[in-house]
Amino acid sequence: MKESTLPLFTCPRPLHGGGCGGALVLRSTPALPITRGCPADEIREGLLRCVTCGQEHPVLSGVAILTPHPDDYLRRYYHSLRRDLARYGALSDPADVWLSRYHTPRRRKQDYGADFRFSQQFEDAWDVARAAADDPQTLYGPFAEWLAQVRGQSPYAVLSRWAAQQAAPRRLALDTGCGAGGLASRVTPLYQTLIGVDLSFLAILLARKALLHAPTAERSYLLTRWRGDTVERPLPVRDCPGAEFVVADCTALPFPGGLFDAVFSSNVIDIASMEGCLDEAVRTLDAAGSFFLTDPFYFRDGEVPREDPREALRSALSARGLTVSEEQDGVPWAWSIYDRHWRVYFNYCCVAQRSR
Ligand SMILES: C[S@@+](CC[C@H](N)C(=O)[O-])C[C@H]1O[C@@H](n2cnc3c(N)ncnc32)[C@H](O)[C@@H]1O
Ligand SMILES: [Zn+2]
Repeated sequence: MKESTLPLFTCPRPLHGGGCGGALVLRSTPALPITRGCPADEIREGLLRCVTCGQEHPVLSGVAILTPHPDDYLRRYYHSLRRDLARYGALSDPADVWLSRYHTPRRRKQDYGADFRFSQQFEDAWDVARAAADDPQTLYGPFAEWLAQVRGQSPYAVLSRWAAQQAAPRRLALDTGCGAGGLASRVTPLYQTLIGVDLSFLAILLARKALLHAPTAERSYLLTRWRGDTVERPLPVRDCPGAEFVVADCTALPFPGGLFDAVFSSNVIDIASMEGCLDEAVRTLDAAGSFFLTDPFYFRDGEVPREDPREALRSALSARGLTVSEEQDGVPWAWSIYDRHWRVYFNYCCVAQRSR
């Protein structure tokens, strides 16, 4: 992470019914010394210490872990962290030894539980179809025609179009549950700084590689056509030097209240709890800010709203003082698993502001 963005963050440790909120300072210890990337503003490794409660949050391979209980996080995902650091990150020898203290026996698979394939983050579905099948028209029939028709109309496109229409100021934005940066890559150029947070260390590593080229750039990816056959595709992502990505929980965000001019929530409220996500999105939104949301309402058992999910969402926003100013339903979000296996969601999209 960039040291210059550190003043934006606060300690998310639960205290007095909310987050601790203490400022974080960078600290070097003999066990985990500070290492820097290039430019020197980039913290590659080190510890961020809360000046109020003393909680320490590590930075590993440029990724700050700003969850409420970082020790639990490191223990729980130890094996996934190791795997992903080996594939996509960089770790010094001291940091490697430091991380080993969180080693836990591999009792059961502990993964971050999401799918971050680049095809659905950065490419239009129709372009993927043309790369996945030699002749999409013959293979897919009317589905190919439909994909071509809805080209450029994904939920990412709808939210970024609305964001571009908002009046200034467009200083600081948050993408909460950002995944590998698909939406962030489209909206970062609209703001001075955009911070993406996700609970998945893998997602943040991938977003940093694709958008920040750190620690090394990801410039292509492998698209699975049929099983056993992959094709290398260029990764069409613009440089986003104004972006920053950290691991954090969107139901306990590491930011002070009212910080952001815009908060984006893309395909996450059905996964990480509507109530918790909205509480934190609204808490961190500036009084004059805009909240952008898209979701397929694919709720987990036990979390399905009783009423129409659009109504449930509007009421949940209204209970937090926000009114929907624009909405669009049935927005196609299509992504390929392999050439004959596609998933299509029809998303609800809206933008909301504080009611006057
Ligand atoms: C379906 S993906 C959407 C990713 C991205 N926003 C997009 O639209 O492409 C859901 C994301 O939410 C993240 N997530 C789930 N629970 C979370 C939580 N409590 N805090 C932060 N991110 C979370 C997952 O890791 C995953 O990246
Ligand atoms: Zn604290």
